[in-house]
Amino acid sequence: MIVASALDELRIWRHGSDGDVGFVPTMGALHKGHVSLVQQSRATCDSTAVSIYINPTQFDNADDLASYPETLQKDLDTLEGLGVDCVFVPTYEVLYPDDFAYQVEERGFSNTLCGAHRPSHFTGVLTVVMKLLNLVRPDKAFFGEKDFQQLTLIRNMVDAFFMDVEIVGCPTVREPDGLAMSSRNLNLAPADRQQAPIFREILEKATSDDDARRQLGEAGFVVDYVETIEGRRLGAVSVGAADRSVRLIDNITLEL
Ligand code: PAF
Repeated sequence: MIVASALDELRIWRHGSDGDVGFVPTMGALHKGHVSLVQQSRATCDSTAVSIYINPTQFDNADDLASYPETLQKDLDTLEGLGVDCVFVPTYEVLYPDDFAYQVEERGFSNTLCGAHRPSHFTGVLTVVMKLLNLVRPDKAFFGEKDFQQLTLIRNMVDAFFMDVEIVGCPTVREPDGLAMSSRNLNLAPADRQQAPIFREILEKATSDDDARRQLGEAGFVVDYVETIEGRRLGAVSVGAADRSVRLIDNITLEL
């Protein structure tokens, strides 16, 4: 497995790879959700690249960035075990030679749901994903449905800019108790970890978005939003005391 931190190393690998290239962009702290994306890429492409980069431009809050879990060596071991061909581990200087002067901004959907609570978050996401797709030049790129708004915005960006890549959405992978896999789960205190699966349960069982917001509030979550769009109920909440609260997002399809 090649571990590339410089653009030239990545380009040399890309130049030498024949057939379909699959790509899984990540911020590291890999879990079974990422593993399923890599497996999907390995199953459908001839070679697979993964990026690990904690992208500062998508964090609207310095504490959230500082507390984002980092497990690089463990992640590299996991990716090697999965048969990944190339891991791209850039620095800010490598990815942002323009110091973020150029940005990809979506002016509609990105300001709703998570975007309404995390201003400029999706500008950071779309900008880094555009850069990574331009560098890796994959045939297919894999994203989890847990981040459904992100997945939709990336699909629409690829359409808007006529980018030659297939965006593949993959089902959310869950813990046995139903909690959606997320790198941020590592930051949950034990009591908050026990409470966290109730979020998904309430999203599933509530009779309306209002009912979900009410039940979540009563269960001790701080609710950012719950909204149903095209048969999918999406939500974001925080769990835990203010000084160590963790933001959870999830979405479920409603039985019609
Ligand atoms: O979903 C993520 O982990 C990130 O938003 C992504 C797509 C890797 C961009 O930094």
